Amino acid sequence: MISKNGNGWAMYNGDCVEVLRGLPDNSVDFSVYSPPFSSLYSYSNSLHDMGNSKNDEDFFKHYGFLVREHMRTMKPGRLVAVHCMNLPTSKQNDGFIGLRDFRGGIIKEFQDAGFIYHAEVCVWKCPVVAVTRTKALGLLHKQLKKDSAMSRTGIPDYVVVFRKPGDNEGRITHTNETFPVDEWQNVASPVWMDIRQGRVLKYRDAKEDDDTRHICPLQLDVIERCMKLWSNPGDVVLSPFAGIGSEGAVAVTMGRRFVGVELKKSYFDLAVSNLENPPGADDVISDISKYALSESEHWDYAKLCAERDALSGRIKTIDRKREAEAKAALAPVDDDLSDLI
Ligand SMILES: C[S@@+](CC[C@H](N)C(=O)[O-])C[C@H]1O[C@@H](n2cnc3c(N)ncnc32)[C@H](O)[C@@H]1O
Repeated sequence: MISKNGNGWAMYNGDCVEVLRGLPDNSVDFSVYSPPFSSLYSYSNSLHDMGNSKNDEDFFKHYGFLVREHMRTMKPGRLVAVHCMNLPTSKQNDGFIGLRDFRGGIIKEFQDAGFIYHAEVCVWKCPVVAVTRTKALGLLHKQLKKDSAMSRTGIPDYVVVFRKPGDNEGRITHTNETFPVDEWQNVASPVWMDIRQGRVLKYRDAKEDDDTRHICPLQLDVIERCMKLWSNPGDVVLSPFAGIGSEGAVAVTMGRRFVGVELKKSYFDLAVSNLENPPGADDVISDISKYALSESEHWDYAKLCAERDALSGRIKTIDRKREAEAKAALAPVDDDLSDLI
């Protein structure tokens, strides 16, 4: 197995269950990560890829091996924070349009392994961006007018957090200066409204030729908050699904030690490079201007993105020679948006 290490970090290119089996008992202080969301995306054609599951049952059978290794390797009283979302069903794959309780499946897996269900936070996501990307029937304004029994809200992200039973021997302490009360009130909110969805590490270099999809890196804001709240400087932080190294880069930047595992070689390589040179502001995809906007301006911005996507999505399907004609025919774009939120 290929592995690389540097100042305060180690990355393994392999299967997380196998790598965790090699870690000592009670050795990890904190774990934060985003697993494959069942079979929603597969990242490679490896059978070890948990995204290559046949269905949810198959995914949780595989994931259960990892959760049992978490139980053995976590220090007592310490936490595992798992980023996830519930999953939409489709007529084609499931026979009905609705939702699957993926978050609930994760909670059950950790409880079955003996963890305490410790906390959870809901991360707000913009439904306009979601409908533009997914064209989900339940979010279309057209559907609302036709029969709103099939309408639904956008699907948020969650961070579900589990504690290994036992006393925490390495207290995580803060002061008024390092964690002021107004910051705590914001972090203690059960819904994080202010996570910058676009503030993620750049990932395009990790795309392989045969990839049909690209990775969706975890937002740095989410990782930073979890890291600050639930770990100490110098702690060992683990991500079994390290991807391009978002959790690792934050851990190293915040003075923690990091152990990461990633199955896909191109992601592993980018993670190593991100750990060797922790990214600066230029390496982060961050639309700062978007987040300097007021709430109503934010929605206008989302609408603008929706317009652009609708326009480019439709143009792609049209013969290049007719592109100019098509552009004219697509105007006014506002009409196209009547189907969206
Ligand atoms: C949701 S992505 C994680 C993205 C990561 N948080 C980031 O910001 O880059 C899930 C990752 O798990 C990896 N993966 C899937 N099965 C794995 C396994 N058995 N062991 C290790 N990595 C695996 C995939 O290749 C993918 O990179």
